[in-house]
Amino acid sequence: MQPGIHLDFRAGFLHNVCVSSGVKKIDAAKENPQFGYDESFFSPAAFALESSIIRDILKYSSQPGVISFAGGLPAPEMFPVEQIKAAADHVLVQYGTLALQYGLSRGYLPLREFLADWIAQRGGDGISPEDIIVTAGSQQGLDMVGRAFLTPGRYVLCSRPTYLGALQAFNYYQAKYATVEIDENGMKVDDLEAKIKQYNPAFIYVVPNFQNPAGVTLTEERRYKLVDLAHRYHVPIVDDNPYGELRYSGSDQVSLKKIGGDAVIQLGTFSKIISPGLRIGWTVGPSEVMDVLERVKQSTDLHTNQFAQYVVHEYVLGGELERHIKRLIKSYKERRDTMLKGMAEFFPDTVVWTKPEGGLFLWVILPDGVVGKDLFMQAIEEKVAFVPGKPFDPTGTMENTMRLNFSNASVEMIREGIKRLGRVFQQL
Ligand SMILES: Cc1ncc(COP(=O)(O)O)c(C=O)c1O
Repeated sequence: MQPGIHLDFRAGFLHNVCVSSGVKKIDAAKENPQFGYDESFFSPAAFALESSIIRDILKYSSQPGVISFAGGLPAPEMFPVEQIKAAADHVLVQYGTLALQYGLSRGYLPLREFLADWIAQRGGDGISPEDIIVTAGSQQGLDMVGRAFLTPGRYVLCSRPTYLGALQAFNYYQAKYATVEIDENGMKVDDLEAKIKQYNPAFIYVVPNFQNPAGVTLTEERRYKLVDLAHRYHVPIVDDNPYGELRYSGSDQVSLKKIGGDAVIQLGTFSKIISPGLRIGWTVGPSEVMDVLERVKQSTDLHTNQFAQYVVHEYVLGGELERHIKRLIKSYKERRDTMLKGMAEFFPDTVVWTKPEGGLFLWVILPDGVVGKDLFMQAIEEKVAFVPGKPFDPTGTMENTMRLNFSNASVEMIREGIKRLGRVFQQL
């Protein structure tokens, strides 16, 4: 470096002049270790975002001895670690540099070709790889949809309760919510028409299969009614379907994508059927929507993790996915049955709950006046954890509800945990 003063013109660095000789350097970060970011630095939308209660609750539920029904975590002992290792080794040997290179914003073409077939087998005829974007989990699909369709104050029409992560995603875009109730048959679609007329929503958000949090599934009759309304009033449906493959009883319902066609933007994910850590999901929709979503995604992360896409593709190629899903169904069915049996045995008559035919969750309704949050602290004393239902309600009520997850604990733990919860309820 030449003697003299060399200025670094990047914003905020002007005072940090780099001097080659003679002049004292100012180490601003040491002199002023607390830079201090207050609210005024942030966009109001980012600052107003609330942390997911589930993530906060993990602090308590991960304490030693606590049996947790709180998170939505798949069973870690079911992860296909060896097969993923073999797939990753193969990808590195076979495709090496390609798998480590930048990729297409829509996603790795062979994986999209696989997905187009996979969706077609489930009734989504006429889907081409171009209609699919591979995303960082379906949570990114929710964010992309929010970015593409929402403006501050615009309504999303959804059920009450609904998936908390969707509310978090849409809240960032300052959405408002118009809601309909649910029952054992899913969203009460009879109430939708009036809400569509009143609120002119940007889209209808629905988790049709084994809904998170309530575990309920939309019946065929309601599906037809929903798509009919979407077409008549020209309102898109965002069909968030992470659990569709995980059915333990009852029979499959017709896919919304099949009967709704271009009105339906469907989100899928490998999170619950391979592993959430891979962060590979997908969004399917008509080309006009996919073109916009592709640009939205590009502006966020250019493309989804290329290596993970190659690995997932390698894993699914040999039909291993179907075999793995069968194993998951067997294991989760046993856990669900254990939980339902324990509830019937240990819960008082004043408590009611849903009986899901699949998925990872069920929903408990406690007597009026019980506050799930207070009950949570009592449950932690008994060393059992759940998620209070209120945050799943866009209107912020539903105090006397809770969500229980049955996929993460072993059957022995489920039985013991439900017994402990029963004791907490008896003390009410
Ligand atoms: C209904 C619903 N949508 C989306 C997601 C996000 O899943 P992913 O891991 O694919 O981002 C979840 C996760 O629990 C979910 O329950």
